[in-house]
Amino acid sequence: MKNDTRNIILFGFMGTGKSSAGRVIADRLERELVEMDAIIEEREGKTINHIFVSEGEPYFRALERGLVEELSARNSLVVSTGGGVVLNPANIEDFRRSGVLFSLMAKPETVYERTKRETHRPLLATADPMKRIVELMEPRRPLYDKADHIIHTDNKSVEEVAEEILKIFSKA
Ligand code: S3P
Repeated sequence: MKNDTRNIILFGFMGTGKSSAGRVIADRLERELVEMDAIIEEREGKTINHIFVSEGEPYFRALERGLVEELSARNSLVVSTGGGVVLNPANIEDFRRSGVLFSLMAKPETVYERTKRETHRPLLATADPMKRIVELMEPRRPLYDKADHIIHTDNKSVEEVAEEILKIFSKA
């Protein structure tokens, strides 16, 4: 598995555990973990929240698009994407050419429980986050379904999710 240079791309809604699973997978394969949001924050010198407020979502999506093009040209990466990366079909297709796509899925209730104490997600900063989660998740479902493999994460530990992905990757 270590000689396989295809990227491992993790899609999924906010709070589905992409970063946590990505860390375990990258460790196990001795690969670089790329956190797309962290790179964008570092390059802009601003948090995602700040980018959304000061420049707007379309500006963020353009940065995200540029980064997908850059990462798709590399290999042997584990990429933890932002939850909205699938909104641009070109992002899905570029990543598809570069490796194996996994979508991490979770019920809205699970996402709510996992994100309710966090404040770094501008799209969930509303009076009724549960309602917003459902509103955002439903139209995205068919987009996450475009991944090569769907991984259900409800009631699973980070290690279990990572194991499942590693097992599929080794056979894919
Ligand atoms: C977003 C998800 C966030 C981040 C931004 C937008 C989305 O990433 O990219 O707040 O549209 O779902 P996480 O999925 O890592 O929270």
